[in-house]
Amino acid sequence: MQGTAIAQPNIALIKYWGKRDVALNLPAVGSISITLRELHTRMQVTFDDALETDTLTVNDAPDEKMLPRLSACLDRVAGPDRHRARIASQCNFPIAAGLASSASSFAALTVAAAHAAGRSLTTAELASLAGQASGSAARSLLGGFVELANTDEGIAVDTLCEADDWPLAVVVVAITETGPKAVGSTEAMEISRKTSPFYSNWVEQQSADLDTAREAIQDRDFDKLARIAEHNCLKMHSIMWASRPPMVYWNAATMRCLETVRTLQAHDFGVFFTIDAGPQVKAVCLPEHAAEVVVRLRATDGVADIMVSGLGQGARLEAAT
Ligand code: DP6
Repeated sequence: MQGTAIAQPNIALIKYWGKRDVALNLPAVGSISITLRELHTRMQVTFDDALETDTLTVNDAPDEKMLPRLSACLDRVAGPDRHRARIASQCNFPIAAGLASSASSFAALTVAAAHAAGRSLTTAELASLAGQASGSAARSLLGGFVELANTDEGIAVDTLCEADDWPLAVVVVAITETGPKAVGSTEAMEISRKTSPFYSNWVEQQSADLDTAREAIQDRDFDKLARIAEHNCLKMHSIMWASRPPMVYWNAATMRCLETVRTLQAHDFGVFFTIDAGPQVKAVCLPEHAAEVVVRLRATDGVADIMVSGLGQGARLEAAT
């Protein structure tokens, strides 16, 4: 009746932004991401018939806010008649700051809950369940470079390249703000879909961007991947900027980090940026250039902290109990 799983967050290089079905949480577009190694969420789920309600602790402190979304995920994995559960989450990076903590949380929760419920599920089934909780969570089930495809049935995840097969990337996360974000991505996506004049172009162009990124990964072509990832990221943010109300996640330090990346690129460093629904800048770089990227981003005015990660593996059970 207990399962413990670990999952790493992922960073999208070709972004998921927008839903085709809100009730089923199906994305409007496919996406490609890299799963990180050093950042993680560990989830322990214990079904216990003595409990009257589900309980949640995050880093040992009780948390009521996240609980309904986690309980709904447990209902989908274990059925609505399940025993109530004790959920304990440990996360070694800031939550709700644009670092995809929901991805690692729901990937780990899905794997832990399936084990605790005695269900042996395929990756496709786990992806569907994790994706209903949070679209990006389905990608954290797998390691390395991961594609999430839209299919007639729903979604499918696949590894494009294992972490060890192209250990190109070190991700340097420049933290420019540690508070929670103003508008969560779930809500922001819907505002974009309903109000942004650029939204339909975004959806139409996504499969071409996915093709380009897939080719770049297959050919191990860092420059090509850099160009398409930056373009796709800036396109996603321009949708938000043109929404009503406008949603601008960047701050002045975010912009200064982009300038730092541009300066490094001008000096032939293998690095590119991507930014999600938060002010942090993720610099993806060649391992041999990581040390310099860290130094330059750390010295960028307004950067509060730096985290460095290589590419990691997918969600997995920690211990069979
Ligand atoms: C900007 O997966 O958090 O990080 O499905 O509503 O939970 P929900 O959204 P979520 O959105 C992630 C958005 C993004 C881009 C990405 O990770 O692809």
